[in-house]
Amino acid sequence: MAEQGAGGGRGGKEQWASRIGVILAVAGSAVGLGNFLRFPGQAAQNGGGAFLLPYFISLLVLGIPLCWAEWTMGRYGGTRGFNSAPGIYSMIWRNRISKYFGAIALMIPLVIYMYYVVIEAWCLGYAIKYITGALVSPEIKDQGAEGYKNFFGDFVGIGAHGANFSGTHLFLLVIVILSFILNFTLIYRGVTKGIERFCRIAMPVMVVLAVIVLVRVLTLGTPDPAKPDQSVLGGLGFMWNPQFEKLGDFKTWLAASGQIFFSLSVGFGIIINYASYLRKNDDVVLSGLTSSSMNEFFEVVLGGLITIPAAFIFLGAAVGEKGTFALGFESLPNVFALMPGPALVGQFFGFLWFFMLFIAAITSSVSMLQPVIAFLEEGFGLKRHASAAMLGLISLLGCGFVLYFSEGLVALDTFDFWVGSVLLFVLALIQSLLYGWAFGIEKGATEAHRGAHIRIPHFVQLMLKYVVPVYLIVVLVGFCTQNLPSYVESIGNNPAALGSILFIGAVLVTLLLLVRTAGKRWEAQGRLTYDDGDTATQGGENR
Ligand code: ALA
Repeated sequence: MAEQGAGGGRGGKEQWASRIGVILAVAGSAVGLGNFLRFPGQAAQNGGGAFLLPYFISLLVLGIPLCWAEWTMGRYGGTRGFNSAPGIYSMIWRNRISKYFGAIALMIPLVIYMYYVVIEAWCLGYAIKYITGALVSPEIKDQGAEGYKNFFGDFVGIGAHGANFSGTHLFLLVIVILSFILNFTLIYRGVTKGIERFCRIAMPVMVVLAVIVLVRVLTLGTPDPAKPDQSVLGGLGFMWNPQFEKLGDFKTWLAASGQIFFSLSVGFGIIINYASYLRKNDDVVLSGLTSSSMNEFFEVVLGGLITIPAAFIFLGAAVGEKGTFALGFESLPNVFALMPGPALVGQFFGFLWFFMLFIAAITSSVSMLQPVIAFLEEGFGLKRHASAAMLGLISLLGCGFVLYFSEGLVALDTFDFWVGSVLLFVLALIQSLLYGWAFGIEKGATEAHRGAHIRIPHFVQLMLKYVVPVYLIVVLVGFCTQNLPSYVESIGNNPAALGSILFIGAVLVTLLLLVRTAGKRWEAQGRLTYDDGDTATQGGENR
């Protein structure tokens, strides 16, 4: 197995070293800022307990079935010599246009990486600011909520475009570069020596750090006797008491489905790539279920029990008025500052929390780079250093764009809305149609069960064919109807938002052109044919 890339563009040479390794890598991709920041933020904004039922229904109807479909299609494509979505989709649906859908599966992780790595760097920055004591200093602490709000705004350059490049933000630029270097070092080392090894260490470390913070938060009780309602128990009630009367609110269903995709990394183009490094008899059903379950443990148990109850102590029911970043980077530091005991206590827990977030973010961001690296290697025959350098330049450009257009975090929000929300639904829909209709659920079931330790009930296959696409179309249309009008209006008033959309468009066009060129190359090499003969390529047969 070549560790330094798929050498010479013949994809399919890298493989996971162990079953637990691949499960931890997929879980590492899934567990990230979405679990600890986005999930509590979405739950808080959608009424806490009101959010959970649509959330679990989306997990069962959309998340886990689509996750199985991605694992199955990924391994199928991988055993036929392809690791990137354009190649894998062409194996699933032997049609000239199928590879172009793969461009979306490359664009999603790439564009999300461009802003995700910035948030990752914020976490590292906050962890460092806790070590130095800056975040528990009297200057900020004594100002309370306002102090932490101003600190965050200033830290991320929210006041004006270009603020992050003004010289006063050198610290942020340095930690973004550090995060970049760490991600690319892991990617350069390859699937087994880089991603798998790192996730094997990072996942247990994350559990330990999160559990320490969890125990402290759950034992906070009612820190301010003057506000008896603002207790840990109140926070748990807000988060966990179901509110059935709110089930009719369509917005909650949209938010819940979006969260499931973002969190599980389903519809991201990542799982399909990771699964392509499996051998043809490696289990996909139990592995897929295990990694999804791990993600839910981190999200619901750790994310759900830490952020909301902690912020509730400080904000009470007003927790629902906070956005994701305000909750994570303003309210939580306030909670750490108010922890009983000397300042060192808050400093210690603040550091643990943000360092844990940073590790969680790396295991996800690195997984966003791998699909594009795999494509550059198998599409153009690039070696690992060339593909990493090329991807490094493209992603640095996008990251620079996000850092520059920082006023109101407009570029970050625009990328997140179009790519981190709308396109996830689109790709999930494409993949459900590819699996249910192009591949076919009979073939899908046979393929999924090869080497499987458990069986997927047949109704899940039927759901994938009929229910999931309809559900997704309804959700997608609902999402656009509900959000697009206000979005279009806001773009009209904000040239930077329009510029961000044009940037995303330029990335997509570039990827479509690259996919076209790669497709011609594969055809010329005889790797890509459009007859429905189901013969595995040499790379696949060898597994
Ligand atoms: N699934 C990743 C997360 O939750 C992207 O952050």
